Amino acid sequence: MDTTPDSTPPATLNRRAFVGAAGLAGLGLMGASRAQAAPAPSSSSTAASTLFTVPMNSDGEYELPPLPYAYDALEPSIDEETMRLHHDIHFNGYKNGLNKALAKLKDFRSGGDYPEIAYWENQLAFNGAGYNLHVVFFENMAPAGTTSPASSLKKTLDEHFGGMDAFKGQFSAAAKTVQGSGWAILGYQPFGGKLVVLQAEKHQNLTQWGVVPILALDVWEHAYYLKYQNRRGDYIDNWWKVVNWDNVAQRTEAALKG
Ligand SMILES: [Fe+2]
Repeated sequence: MDTTPDSTPPATLNRRAFVGAAGLAGLGLMGASRAQAAPAPSSSSTAASTLFTVPMNSDGEYELPPLPYAYDALEPSIDEETMRLHHDIHFNGYKNGLNKALAKLKDFRSGGDYPEIAYWENQLAFNGAGYNLHVVFFENMAPAGTTSPASSLKKTLDEHFGGMDAFKGQFSAAAKTVQGSGWAILGYQPFGGKLVVLQAEKHQNLTQWGVVPILALDVWEHAYYLKYQNRRGDYIDNWWKVVNWDNVAQRTEAALKG
């Protein structure tokens, strides 16, 4: 099974630290200048710098990360056709929208004129947050039965939520009740040092400034409608079977370490 989408660009030319970009997307301010200011990981990358990375080309444009598993690897929880459309079309569209918004705003700055500035700032927030959350979403999943929550992660979730079941209960309830298109997100709130569960409408609404996403569940209809139609709850219940708990634990550890 080919795990590399046809639309995926060639090997990453440059990978930059993601913590800054993730925080900025949470702020609705994800932009090239700040993202590029983050240090590139060295050959002896730490867990944090390895995990929180996004592919970027030599021109500073964001690229589409390849799917880290086969398109059908999450069957039957998530079907192959949905994964192909979701990753190759929808995710890629947010990447293109983010790059276009950044290019437009750069042109405006060069010309000293800002036509339709509100529209392009909206595009920057929408597509930047969408790109950010899809990076996390696809890395947050793995074939069923290949990972399980480590004791250290369980301990952390217990400290912040009162237990794994309490965390999953809040997260599922949040996901099932997002109005319209959006997300449920486990995130790290840096100003309080807390883990929080947030809902997001579209990609960028209802966030807290600066929250770093750790576990993100896409509940836009494009994420489940082919298989589940209007049964979002069934999709959410089955999605738990393909959560990559190793990735969640690594992201949690990296976030808590700052
Ligand atoms: Fe999506």
